[in-house]
Amino acid sequence: MKHEVFEKNSLILLVGILIAVSIGGLAQIAPLFWIDSTIEKVKGMRPYTPLEQVGRDIYVREGCYGCHSQMIRTLRDEVERYGHYSLAAESMYDHPFQWGSKRTGPDLARVGGKYSDQWQADHLVAPRALVPESIMPGYPWLATTRIDAPSTVERLKTLRLVGVPYSDEMIVNAERDLVAQIDPESRSARDLLQRYPKAKVVRLDNSSTPHPTELEALVAYLQILGQMVDFATFDAAGPNLR
Ligand code: HEC
Repeated sequence: MKHEVFEKNSLILLVGILIAVSIGGLAQIAPLFWIDSTIEKVKGMRPYTPLEQVGRDIYVREGCYGCHSQMIRTLRDEVERYGHYSLAAESMYDHPFQWGSKRTGPDLARVGGKYSDQWQADHLVAPRALVPESIMPGYPWLATTRIDAPSTVERLKTLRLVGVPYSDEMIVNAERDLVAQIDPESRSARDLLQRYPKAKVVRLDNSSTPHPTELEALVAYLQILGQMVDFATFDAAGPNLR
């Protein structure tokens, strides 16, 4: 037996293991130095609007990730249940990202547009009023807590520091855009849409215009999840890659 020499001498075995593991490691790591980008180029990705970003920070603060992932895997059952598998590009502006495998509740990567704004709001305040068997906790204080508008400017500036492409114009108008996203009548809603394509005004029965609540922010965030990339034109192997 040729491998007896490995089995009888632990030092040789160790060297053998190191060689075998390095080959595996190189095969995984080396290609990353030759491909142009590890994030596929897709159309439609943009930074979050101020209201969506505030909502995202509330999502993180409340620990929604403890029960919800935002990562649809490339497995058939997941794709059939939730839609197209998640792309790296879809979370490129997420700090911190919300991938994961903890799913006490369903994955939320594509929950945007699945329900109305009012459904999302009612569900967050009292989940069992809409889904009787739900074990999700309610978050009623979100409806009565106003957002600290001036802090949104600092939020966007900080995100710009870590590479999110917020323009000067977006930062200067952050407070106005924040309010515009809960007020469909305002003229600034049009400016908001120009700066942030596909941004949707949040419409709740008890709108708090012109002082957005945390509930409205969280709903704005949930409604944009999975909505930015147009998958009708996306082809994982096609021209969009370039
Ligand atoms: C203790 C675990 C738990 C926590 C924490 C939790 N959820 Fe849930 N969530 C669930 C469960 C279970 C469901 C499925 C039943 C239901 O719809 O209520 C659910 C459903 C949902 C849905 C509907 C998804 C769909 O596709 O039908 C949304 C949206 C949602 N949660 C958002 C949130 C947000 C936002 C937070 C944080 C503020 C949060 N959840 C915190 C457990 C949780």
